Amino acid sequence: MTPDRFAALRKRIAAIPRIPLALRPTPMVEAKRLARQLGGPRIFVKRDDLTGIALGGNKLRNLEFRLAHAVAQGADTIIVGLDLQSNSARQTTGAANSLGLRTVLVLEGAPPAALQGNLLLDHLLGADVRLARDAAEQRAMLDAAADEVRAAGGRPYMMSDDPMFEMGSALAYLDATLEMLEQLAPQGVAPRAFYLSSGGKGQAGMALARAALGADFAVRGVTASRRHDVPTRTAAIANRTAEKLGLDARVSPDDVINTDAFVGLDYGIPTEAGNEALLLFARHEGVLLDPVYTGKAAACLIADIRAGLFGAEDAVVFVHTGGMPAIFTWSEALLAAARGQ
Ligand SMILES: Cc1ncc(COP(=O)(O)O)c(C=O)c1O
Repeated sequence: MTPDRFAALRKRIAAIPRIPLALRPTPMVEAKRLARQLGGPRIFVKRDDLTGIALGGNKLRNLEFRLAHAVAQGADTIIVGLDLQSNSARQTTGAANSLGLRTVLVLEGAPPAALQGNLLLDHLLGADVRLARDAAEQRAMLDAAADEVRAAGGRPYMMSDDPMFEMGSALAYLDATLEMLEQLAPQGVAPRAFYLSSGGKGQAGMALARAALGADFAVRGVTASRRHDVPTRTAAIANRTAEKLGLDARVSPDDVINTDAFVGLDYGIPTEAGNEALLLFARHEGVLLDPVYTGKAAACLIADIRAGLFGAEDAVVFVHTGGMPAIFTWSEALLAAARGQ
């Protein structure tokens, strides 16, 4: 991994329009007490939950590219279709607010009994929140929202349909990988593996970083849902991003490590292993994870450490992608887990 390759990658990323939104670089913190408890490798936590706007998270990095694209098109209203308890929806609304843009959220899911978690925050942030029962209704509502904005003389940006939606995540985490390696190098740390919660978008950027740098660290993605064939999706997004950047490097689905072994019953439903991971991070490091994404990803890291995948001289990085508002939608299940420990 030569400094030349770093600089060349940085130069190509810098050529893509970007609006600064996230507090960068986010801290890289060694989790010594957790590592001692688990008895395995050194563990570093990349605090991408601390990116700032609207409680932070991985999406603020992505939004720097997505919203730059929207602003370049003269948009005044961001329209996006996401899940009912989406972290992305919250961060999009917060970021759009900071740029003076309106947000229409068309969220898929049944009307909840209580407004909690991200949905509560969407309302506090002033998003125009609309609920769709299923994907078909969501599609129709997105198109209707865009027509409505145009009819009122506004300029909608349909974020869900834009190629920059996925590519923005990949560009952001290509950049974040360089940031992490640069934080670790002065400490003489070359990580064996990065762990992250991943549906394939951010991981695409990390896989592309690995290919473009010719690096030998592993990127271990842990999906929170069974909605996608994540390796195929990751490679496709990585390769589209490589083309956009004019890079020769390519990623094949066979190069992508992503497991669905920690999803449990379904997307959004906490698991025993995820809750245990959440409590371990909370009680040994004071770091809060969430039960939907990061807790399940940390459960994979913990299972791999317990299975003896790493030695004491190894270092691994856990990328904390945010998502803590979900704690409050699962308060009873988490309290039960906490009382059982
Ligand atoms: C907290 C958290 N972690 C990870 C992810 C997955 O990231 P990606 O869509 O870039 O794969 C999400 C996506 O919503 C998320 O909210």
